[in-house]
Amino acid sequence: MGYKEIYDLLEQKDQTHLLKYYGLLDENQREALLEQISNIDFDLLNLLKQDVGKMKKGVITPLTDAVSVKEIEKKREHFQEIGVQAIRDGKIGALLLAGGMGTRLGSDKPKGMYNIGLTKEVYIFEMLIRNLMQVVEETGAWIPLYIMTSEKNDIDTRQFFKDMNYFGYNPDFVDFFVQKMAPAANYDGKIYLEEKDRVATSPNGNGGWFISFVESGLEEKAKKAGVSHLNVFAVDNVCQRIADPCFVGAAIEGNYSCAAKVVAKQRPEEKVGVLCLEDGKPSIVEYYELSEDMARERDENGELVYKYGVILNYLFRIEDLEKNLSENLAVHVVEKKIEHLDEQGKKVKPEVENGFKFETLVLDMIHMMDNCLAYEVVREKEFAPIKNKEGVDSVETARELLKQNGVEL
Ligand code: UTP
Repeated sequence: MGYKEIYDLLEQKDQTHLLKYYGLLDENQREALLEQISNIDFDLLNLLKQDVGKMKKGVITPLTDAVSVKEIEKKREHFQEIGVQAIRDGKIGALLLAGGMGTRLGSDKPKGMYNIGLTKEVYIFEMLIRNLMQVVEETGAWIPLYIMTSEKNDIDTRQFFKDMNYFGYNPDFVDFFVQKMAPAANYDGKIYLEEKDRVATSPNGNGGWFISFVESGLEEKAKKAGVSHLNVFAVDNVCQRIADPCFVGAAIEGNYSCAAKVVAKQRPEEKVGVLCLEDGKPSIVEYYELSEDMARERDENGELVYKYGVILNYLFRIEDLEKNLSENLAVHVVEKKIEHLDEQGKKVKPEVENGFKFETLVLDMIHMMDNCLAYEVVREKEFAPIKNKEGVDSVETARELLKQNGVEL
């Protein structure tokens, strides 16, 4: 689209401020800006007119498919055998969601490049690779690893892996792909400018992974190589087991479309998304979507009825993801701190939230699946998310847990 068309479009959308500095830009910058604007999905802004953050849920009932730590122990050998075989047959891929901005941690670099070591360097990416390597050693098979980045951190992430020699992983089994971006707007629905020649955008949420995986051609590559299941996991949980043969085996044995690693909630009011059924299909309800009564409800054994919190480690069968590709994921409007240019054209790094970003979430993909196995893991062994620098779910708490598990920092 040329200048005139873009201007008309922006006028229609009440966003002409995005061209405020157009006259000051050189030819290349002008072209890049027009190109960026032509790719904006302006429909997202309509979501701001709705009740922000609240989405309609169906009828919530307790989960039916779950295996507890105790049950897993009884069947460990059997699950393990199935999982190891699937990995040796090349059926399992690992997919790292590393496109997030990690704003809470507050580092300018990709989150995975954060050094959590105390006496030596121990990077988040390094811990994840170490965890995956344990399975490679156990099974004798390299597991294809797909790493999702975003426009904002792709170059740094790839370079870091190269510089670090992939932390000993076989680079032939590592592929990167880039997720899409969405615009960021202020409270009045005006899209921010990040630079005079750039609209403020942010990664479109971790639910964007499958479509970007398909469009990158990697899904085709994976299928050709025989991969049938993907273990999708977050960058920030440094303790999690990836492509865990027992987890994989349990999901395959039950012929599940997907499976989720979960931990038992410590308290009814704990702020985690809980796996349950929604209108009879698997679903994750956020803590604020569960009524107080439901959060406190207990079964005849005194256990919480809605007790399994998700830890962002899922196994998806690719075939089932494809069936649902045409279904649109809900877009969540999230309040965030957004870097932008102020009225005077000066760069602002806000200390508090100043607008909205638009994200789809991987947890919403669970509801598209016919069934989902909740697979319980021991929190102290497998859940050390690094969201913040200090306090809850922080570098400090993760270090503690790593030390408890015998990791030298
Ligand atoms: P979070 O929800 O913790 O978001 O991501 P974040 O962007 O990393 O951190 P904050 O909220 O800005 O502090 C959970 C997982 O999903 C990935 C993250 O990299 C992390 O592994 N993610 C998130 C993406 O891959 N893309 C996104 O657009 C958002």
